[in-house]
Amino acid sequence: MLIEFTLNSENVSVDVPAYFRLSDVLRDEFGLHGLRNACRKGYCGLCSVVLDGKLVYSCLIPVFQIRGREIMTIEGYSKTDDFEDVYKGFKKEGVHLCDYCAPTRTLTTGILLDRYARPDEHQLMEILTTVTCSCTPYETLKKGILSAARFRQRRLQ
Ligand code: FES
Ligand code: FES
Repeated sequence: MLIEFTLNSENVSVDVPAYFRLSDVLRDEFGLHGLRNACRKGYCGLCSVVLDGKLVYSCLIPVFQIRGREIMTIEGYSKTDDFEDVYKGFKKEGVHLCDYCAPTRTLTTGILLDRYARPDEHQLMEILTTVTCSCTPYETLKKGILSAARFRQRRLQ
């Protein structure tokens, strides 16, 4: 099935079986390896991408559903000013993520900070738990997220 869509601001097409997972197509057909196929069951969040402005788990989406829609992955997001805010916020607070989760953690944090410009405790937990990680302390991550939010607020003032 030929599927046309927008990927990281470019019009693209791919010819694959309609039931293929979006995560597999993005990785295998487009070489976008920032997202991970970890659990493949909607538990870990490591396959998150942005679909029409909203975070989704790409392992749960059959590729035919993205016809005519817009996808952004960390590879596209890393070219934005929003990415810089998250990068600087994490760096300032000494958030050292592993290579496995860092791309998706950065993407999900940035996208959720669009929604929660000054996240409260509840919103912080939502941002934290979007991606599974048991090796970086939540307190460190929280500081990084709040610092990223401050960088963004200053830039947008
Ligand atoms: S690989 Fe998609 S949620 Fe874990
Ligand atoms: S820092 Fe990457 S999974 Fe915990």
